[in-house]
Amino acid sequence: MTEILALANYDVFVGNCTESLSGFLSNYSHRKVVVLTDEHTHTFCLDRIRPLLPADILEISIPAGEVHKDLNTCQFIWGKLLEFGVNRNDLMINLGGGVVGDMGGFCASTYKRGIDFIQIPTTLLSMVDASIGGKLGIDFNGVKNSIGVFKDPKAVFVDPFFLDTLPKRELRSGFAEIIKHALISDEILWRQISSINIHTEKNWTPIIIDSLKVKQKIVVEDPYEKGLRKALNFGHTIGHGIEGVMLHKENSLLHGEAIAIGMAIESWLSFHKGFLSEEEFISILIFLKRTFNLQPIREELIDDFILLMKNDKKNESDEIHFAVIGPIGKVHVDFVRDVPFVKKALEIFNHNLLQ
Ligand SMILES: NC(=O)c1ccc[n+]([C@@H]2O[C@H](COP(=O)([O-])OP(=O)(O)OC[C@H]3O[C@@H](n4cnc5c(N)ncnc54)[C@H](O)[C@@H]3O)[C@@H](O)[C@H]2O)c1
Ligand SMILES: [Zn+2]
Repeated sequence: MTEILALANYDVFVGNCTESLSGFLSNYSHRKVVVLTDEHTHTFCLDRIRPLLPADILEISIPAGEVHKDLNTCQFIWGKLLEFGVNRNDLMINLGGGVVGDMGGFCASTYKRGIDFIQIPTTLLSMVDASIGGKLGIDFNGVKNSIGVFKDPKAVFVDPFFLDTLPKRELRSGFAEIIKHALISDEILWRQISSINIHTEKNWTPIIIDSLKVKQKIVVEDPYEKGLRKALNFGHTIGHGIEGVMLHKENSLLHGEAIAIGMAIESWLSFHKGFLSEEEFISILIFLKRTFNLQPIREELIDDFILLMKNDKKNESDEIHFAVIGPIGKVHVDFVRDVPFVKKALEIFNHNLLQ
């Protein structure tokens, strides 16, 4: 069974993608089809869709990982599109996680002023989050997602089959966004999600659908992040900062791992303000600690972190803007704290919350 979720300009098909994808591709006969993969999705994911594609597909494969979500890789992709003679009627398929989806979508939307593209997310994170909502882009000068555009794909095909080969650590990273969607939307959903053990969970499809519905609702109401959509930034102001300072370091964190720390600290901010009750805060913290094995932020990274956060596109002057929750299911966007207070919150995380 395929479930179809409608966004303003495109549909998200959830389930076995073989039928829905072949139906969609019949609109693109006689056009060039380019498939962008990274080294892992080329190995593990391409075979599932290859029989549905024309025999003469053009393949572009890039190295895997966030460190390659940059201008150099874009130049490589644009170069290949030119070399293949791709033009504005052709189609690009982004088969991969959030890195392939964000960067492939960005390259497709800027190449010759934009060609059609579809997203086939292959990580849990990209299935529930990155592949929908039209935000595309790359990291630049150490600032996450600082160059990019809003542009919708023609369709998204979410097929949980791809999760079979996904490393457990990546699965857990994606689960952070599922936790976020529950916390910003609904206490009942939070209770369901907080009973999941990701190591034993086998049936991801209904979990993905519930989570996608949260993002779908928000994105449909606020496609360009003027207001409501800022709710999706819960955990991300601090999470992006941590991800940014650790990006080129040893033992760097995955996106969701950084967001898990961000959700813990931002939940403390909400609790401190009185939005979250102590009981709610503790339940969130315990679940995050259990699922992510949270570690302290290394002291020497805290100053780099504060500097980077001030550069974040969401912040002005010395103030740092957050989307915080409380009670669970309700979000307060444009919650502001100054830099010294945020620094104190990080120290409290390191010294008190992890005990
Ligand atoms: N556009 C948005 O709205 C949005 C939202 C959330 C996150 N993001 C972005 O998404 C990115 C993170 O995405 P991600 O977590 O998917 O990371 P990713 O794309 O780097 O994928 C994670 C790893 O898993 C591998 N992989 C992917 N699918 C696989 C499969 N089925 N089997 C085996 N290996 C597989 C990849 O090669 C990679 O090594 C970040 O850059 C983040 O900024 C964007
Ligand atoms: Zn995220």
